[in-house]
Amino acid sequence: MRDVAAAPASTGPRVLPRNDPRQYDDLAGEWWRPDGAFAMLHWLAEARAALVPPATRPDALLVDLGCGAGLLAPHLAGKGYRHVGVDLTRSALVQAAEHGVTVLQADVTAVPLPDGCADVVSAGELLEHVPAWPRAVAEACRLLRPGGVLVLDTLNDTALARLVAVRIGERLPTVPRGIHDPQLFVDARSLVAECARHGVELRLRGIRPQVGGLVGWLLRRARAARRPGAVTAGRTPRIVPTRSTAVLYQGRGVRNG
Ligand SMILES: C[S@@+](CC[C@H](N)C(=O)[O-])C[C@H]1O[C@@H](n2cnc3c(N)ncnc32)[C@H](O)[C@@H]1O
Repeated sequence: MRDVAAAPASTGPRVLPRNDPRQYDDLAGEWWRPDGAFAMLHWLAEARAALVPPATRPDALLVDLGCGAGLLAPHLAGKGYRHVGVDLTRSALVQAAEHGVTVLQADVTAVPLPDGCADVVSAGELLEHVPAWPRAVAEACRLLRPGGVLVLDTLNDTALARLVAVRIGERLPTVPRGIHDPQLFVDARSLVAECARHGVELRLRGIRPQVGGLVGWLLRRARAARRPGAVTAGRTPRIVPTRSTAVLYQGRGVRNG
């Protein structure tokens, strides 16, 4: 699919191709708005952080590939890691640094960090944005020390994922329009095989937003759009496990010793 995406009206008329990284600059003001265009990334960050074990040694390092504006940071509080974020988008890295992340502007397919430096590598909502995702997986596994933990979440390369995340999702405020190129979605079996080639046995589970919380959130958003300034506080939708990995899935694996 090669159709183009319009930036939100508030940021002007710039039209960019799908998955063009400049969209993150246009949306820079959205990262930390709890009900903004990246709201779902906050819910996913909480669910991803739940897969991260507490650090087992002083100076333990967590490398957050494609860290964006550092949304994982608050959910790692108290786990005992130094949080290093790697991303291409400078406007996002500035915000990540403001949230305590040590930032590195680099491509996740060639990370300027040494082999085995990381106790944990996180790749949240990243691989479906990287045309050479196997290269990013190789880098993630290279960075992990033996016994280190890889955590990730991404979108599956299925017709259902394209329907839910693009055709439907982009018509709702849950997914910014044009942020994904569905041609880049990541086949779950290929991902498991790629991780195994690099010494990480990845286990997957499907995830989705909890329906009641999501509907309540969408209604609150719609009310706020109709009545700007109205109080719209409410429950944040939670990400819950689901049987199928056909749309959105999490992975967790340990690097072989
Ligand atoms: C959907 S956002 C996810 C951000 C963050 N992981 C989160 O969940 O909040 C994808 C991020 O990946 C970054 N990205 C995409 N391709 C990249 C690449 N090849 N190297 C580094 N960062 C990349 C983008 O700049 C963006 O910040």
